[in-house]
Amino acid sequence: KKAIQVGLLGLGTVGTGVVKILANNANSIAQKVGADIQIKKIMVRNPDKPRSVAVDDLITTRLEDIIDNPDIDIVVEVMGGEMPAKDYMLRALQAGKHVVTANKDVMARYGRELFAAAEENKLDLMFEASVGGGIPIIRPLKQCLAGNKISEVMGIVNGTTNYMLTKMTNEGLDFEEVLAEAQAKGYAESDPTADVGGLDAARKIAILASIAFGARVSVDDVSVEGIASLSKADIGYASELGYVIKLLGIAKEDEKGIDVRVHPAFVAKNHPLAAVQDVFNAIFVKGDAVGEAMFYGRGAGEMPTASAVVADIIDVARDIQHGVSSRILCTCFDQKPICPVEK
Ligand code: NAP
Ligand code: HSE
Repeated sequence: KKAIQVGLLGLGTVGTGVVKILANNANSIAQKVGADIQIKKIMVRNPDKPRSVAVDDLITTRLEDIIDNPDIDIVVEVMGGEMPAKDYMLRALQAGKHVVTANKDVMARYGRELFAAAEENKLDLMFEASVGGGIPIIRPLKQCLAGNKISEVMGIVNGTTNYMLTKMTNEGLDFEEVLAEAQAKGYAESDPTADVGGLDAARKIAILASIAFGARVSVDDVSVEGIASLSKADIGYASELGYVIKLLGIAKEDEKGIDVRVHPAFVAKNHPLAAVQDVFNAIFVKGDAVGEAMFYGRGAGEMPTASAVVADIIDVARDIQHGVSSRILCTCFDQKPICPVEK
């Protein structure tokens, strides 16, 4: 059967993981899809940078080599940042390519515009890796819990800051030192102020709130406070009182409206969130039928994040094989404007 062809935008932490999984698990993935999945081209910024995967013959710096290539079925955007990533995704959809992305910056601000383009062109737009790294959370919220009225989504949605807070709490390390470690491990954003300032978590909770409440929640609707002003002394005082400090993303809907916020919080040492350490994330969802459900796993890093991206690629490839499209398009990010609770 004809192979499904992928064009990658970006070959950094996540892109490299995607290349590895598609190569390492090629046979089992082909069985699941009913066709091989091949990477046809990879766009990067610096073609001379040494790479840890052998893909030199696939590298390009020209977007046209991907979006104007008639062989390419799926464009996978793992370059990050709002622009030009959003424009590239839009152009890919307009050129008839399905899009898979890990980009919360774009989804939290332009999700609605991109979904409109996907729907118009009868294409898939998938973004499982944009929240929670390797944790399945977008599909569960969108599909498995679709029968519920969701009242709350809450938890630890940034791996970098959770890694930092864990190291500062358990090992007494300094802020700068642990931030450098998180960057070296590939957890942090290219601009790590988005992690420590809470903006990355704000983007993610905006995406989750949009899906959970079927509302247009933008990152600009989120009240944000990060961990930049936290000191070792704050963490020490919290510990003496029986608490750990965690950066939480919280989205609640009640009769007054939707309240979406990110801030550091005292969490009792015996609360399940206190046990969420290092790069792990945990997200609680409260639904009227299911009660409470908790999603837990590695929230950042090369292979966990690539796991979610590849799952999206496989889902899109199956759609292509079966001649269907827009199968799990979002009815979220819809027309209903958010009615924010006063901050
Ligand atoms: P990264 O390591 O910084 O890699 C970015 C890649 O994109 C690099 O290969 C870079 O090219 C390329 N690139 C950037 N701007 C470009 C441009 N204008 N034109 C062409 N290529 C460009 O980033 P990452 O950590 O893999 O993250 C990628 C995306 O995944 C981001 O949206 C991020 O938020 C998201 N994400 C990351 C993680 C994680 O744990 N890292 C987890 C979940 C989601 P060069 O290699 O030539 O510099
Ligand atoms: N910088 C992000 C984090 C990557 O640390 O959670 C995963 O989205």
